[in-house]
Amino acid sequence: MIGRIGDEKIEEIRERTDIVTLVSSYLQLKRSGANHFGLCPFHTEKSPSFSVSAPRQTFHCFGCNEGGDVFAFLMKMEGLSFPEAARRLAGLAGVEIPEEAPDPEEDRRRRERERLLAVNEAARDYYQQLLLREPEGEPGRQYLKRRGFDSALARAYGLGYAPDRWEGLARHLSEQGLDPEAARTLGLVRPGREGRGDYDLFRGRLIFPILGLTGQVAAFGARTLGEAQPKYINSPESPVYHKGGVLYGLYQAREGIRRQGEVILVEGYFDLLALHRAGFTHVVATCGTALTEEQVGLLKRYARKVLLLFDQDAAGRKATWRALDLLLPTGLPAAVVGLDPGEDPDSFLARRGVENFRERLAAARPALELFMEESLAEAGEAIDAKARAVEEILGRLRRVPGEIERSLYLKALAERSGLEERMLLQRLGGSRNPAPAAAPPPKMSPSPRARAEAPARTPVSGAADRAQEVLLYLAVNDPLARRRVIEEGPEEYFSEPALRELARQVLERAAEEETTDPGILAAGLPEDQRQRLSAILGKDPRAFAEDPERIFEDCRRATEQARRRQHLKALQQMLREAEAAGEGERCAALQREIIETRKGL
Ligand code: UTP
Ligand code: MN
Repeated sequence: MIGRIGDEKIEEIRERTDIVTLVSSYLQLKRSGANHFGLCPFHTEKSPSFSVSAPRQTFHCFGCNEGGDVFAFLMKMEGLSFPEAARRLAGLAGVEIPEEAPDPEEDRRRRERERLLAVNEAARDYYQQLLLREPEGEPGRQYLKRRGFDSALARAYGLGYAPDRWEGLARHLSEQGLDPEAARTLGLVRPGREGRGDYDLFRGRLIFPILGLTGQVAAFGARTLGEAQPKYINSPESPVYHKGGVLYGLYQAREGIRRQGEVILVEGYFDLLALHRAGFTHVVATCGTALTEEQVGLLKRYARKVLLLFDQDAAGRKATWRALDLLLPTGLPAAVVGLDPGEDPDSFLARRGVENFRERLAAARPALELFMEESLAEAGEAIDAKARAVEEILGRLRRVPGEIERSLYLKALAERSGLEERMLLQRLGGSRNPAPAAAPPPKMSPSPRARAEAPARTPVSGAADRAQEVLLYLAVNDPLARRRVIEEGPEEYFSEPALRELARQVLERAAEEETTDPGILAAGLPEDQRQRLSAILGKDPRAFAEDPERIFEDCRRATEQARRRQHLKALQQMLREAEAAGEGERCAALQREIIETRKGL
């Protein structure tokens, strides 16, 4: 929908925007000579080292070295992309950017979203009123108080209380004249049986509104006040709520993240509230589900570093390593905060206090280093276990984008494992990029029949897709192949996100339930995934009679390529930003890295 903004328009926006005015709308500036000074919004400081030059129309911070023009400032400040920032500035400066003809379908979707958001907002207000004021909200107030939270925090997060009634919200919405159909679409109410009216989804629960990036209410989480199961329930997915694309608390945390330059990632609503109460505002929560690539993309907009602070139990550990896998290829540094076994941030703070917590934060360990250490320690000296641990570590090392960092890690791995660095390097490079850069692209699939069957995309990606489906089939039916995929991680072999998720779930279930029964494996999956799985598993085994090593290798190569393409995209974006900010040296460095990365494609 958004067309490209022409270079002349960009220049016009630049001409008509004054950087001093723009920056002043965010912070106080004092004039001193040709420049203006203020406290840097991008890092914490006590004396002003942030300067704005009116003649040059640029800003620069002598403390943290951020700098650039009006576009760069707004991008950084609001976490916007270049076109988003340009449009925002155009609006402020009164520069018209010709829109492409409105698409009626797009228009309809936008109106539908607005209608839904209005209902979510009305629901948030209703729940909040109850918690803050109504006699009926007393249980909610008591509960928060018991856990030590005051009403200021409840207000900051728009917390609410859903009364313990079947028709609280349903009736309220209809009194407000709001569309019951919209409330059903949002999952807030459900149609009653036998002609009875709609009834509420959330009853007798504490309500956490989940906000999108612009502060709109996308969904709700709701905690029981007692022991009822499930402890939390959530709004279902809807046209305004896509679970994997939202992080709880990000809207409120943006400012803190920008100041700290880093973000603390926790699992739960209450972990986040407890941290906020202790004075840490740069916190967001995954809400108990595995981190997604989309969420990592959001974090990357605001943070330069991620502190992983999950529950100190097996599930939390697993979530930590999964987060690491997603963060590694983005180059966003990740460190792990260690608490005491069995604790979560909320319980740790209650038991050990803020000062201890601060120490733990400061002692956070680089995630990959910790992973290396823990897997080697866990493997012990048994040869096969150790070999597997080293393979796993190498698998993750391959995802480190920076050459220098990668080789430092390799050195550390050599020291800690007692293996020769040269050999490790060979293993690392071996499956990383088997074909020399100048050679023609490697043949992906041996059988001509497979080629004919492959969908009509580019031949390479078609064959790679097919190899990944074959691998899923193999991994379900062959325990050895399965173990290998699970241990090295599905992200090593499945480049397509939907198939990767499918593989992750199916293989975990196959291992847990010790079954290859397609019915059991498919249970509970969304319809489209189920169909895809049964198409893959239902094939004649002879169609898949291929050399498994070859399949593994094809898949690994495909994911490596996908990773490189992703990295390339990120680099290109950084280059555009660096160009806009006039950072010459950084541009040159990025260009070199882009050329290097292209060679591998
Ligand atoms: P926890 O069980 O660790 O809850 O789940 P918690 O946040 O520590 O909550 P309290 O302190 O017991 O109240 C972590 C997160 O996982 C999600 C929620 O987002 C929760 O905050 N979760 C948990 C669910 O979505 N459903 C559940 O049934 C449980
Ligand atoms: Mn917890």
